[in-house]
Amino acid sequence: MQQVADWVRAARRIVVLSGAGMSAESGVPTFRDAQTGLWAKFRPEDLATEQAFRADPKLVWEWYASRRAMIARVQPNAGHLAIAAFQQRHPGRLTVVTQNVDGLHQRAGSPEVLALHGNIAEDRWLDAPRACCTPANTVAGAPPRCAACGNLRRPAVVWFGEMLPRAELAAAAEAAAGCDLMLVVGTSGVVHPAAGLARATHGRVVIVNPHPSELDDAADAVLRETAAGALPQLLPDVAS
Ligand code: APR
Repeated sequence: MQQVADWVRAARRIVVLSGAGMSAESGVPTFRDAQTGLWAKFRPEDLATEQAFRADPKLVWEWYASRRAMIARVQPNAGHLAIAAFQQRHPGRLTVVTQNVDGLHQRAGSPEVLALHGNIAEDRWLDAPRACCTPANTVAGAPPRCAACGNLRRPAVVWFGEMLPRAELAAAAEAAAGCDLMLVVGTSGVVHPAAGLARATHGRVVIVNPHPSELDDAADAVLRETAAGALPQLLPDVAS
């Protein structure tokens, strides 16, 4: 831990690559945890796809609505807050690249977050919007739809098999290539291209994860710690 804290102090450009484990201590279940309650019989891979949404818009919309409601009730944890405080103390020195759609980095005050998989709090049109697809024409429902042409609203997140937002991905690849240190926090490293960023950096790679991940072999150091436990120690609240 001390060695990594020294690397943080010496690093000019830091990237934090975060996954669902970053929000676990806020009470947000990770993807590879068993689904709980009503959704226990579904796998994210079965619901987070365009074909699942087209096949059963109500089911998929309600799954996202239940996750939005749960996320609205939780708070950023000490890990999110330590990252945001460091960014505010050292403008431009730390970039957050997240796979999470929960918006907790943003709510913690991080000024610079590259959200590779979108944001669960937002939605967009399923098919290319026509002139009739306006808020005034949008009727409530699960999902809301255009009263004129029937176009559906869908969560503005990246589903399995979909392209990531080009601008965010390009900025994340640039940040990864240019950083001295990448803290890979709370990700199993099984989903690409996000996980690949940890292999694309020339900087040191440090993993913060209580369990083994697919990226452990790419790490210069592995901290078997939690996000909320380790990050306040690695990003101390002192000007350094
Ligand atoms: N602190 C740090 N890491 C933790 C904690 C914690 N408190 N609790 C769990 N973890 C780790 C787990 O050990 C696991 O390696 O977080 C990781 C969560 O892995 P996943 O559930 O696979 O989440 P993630 O890696 O973000 O998934 C990537 O897959 O489902 C898609 O698009 C979705 O963005 C998601 C992507």
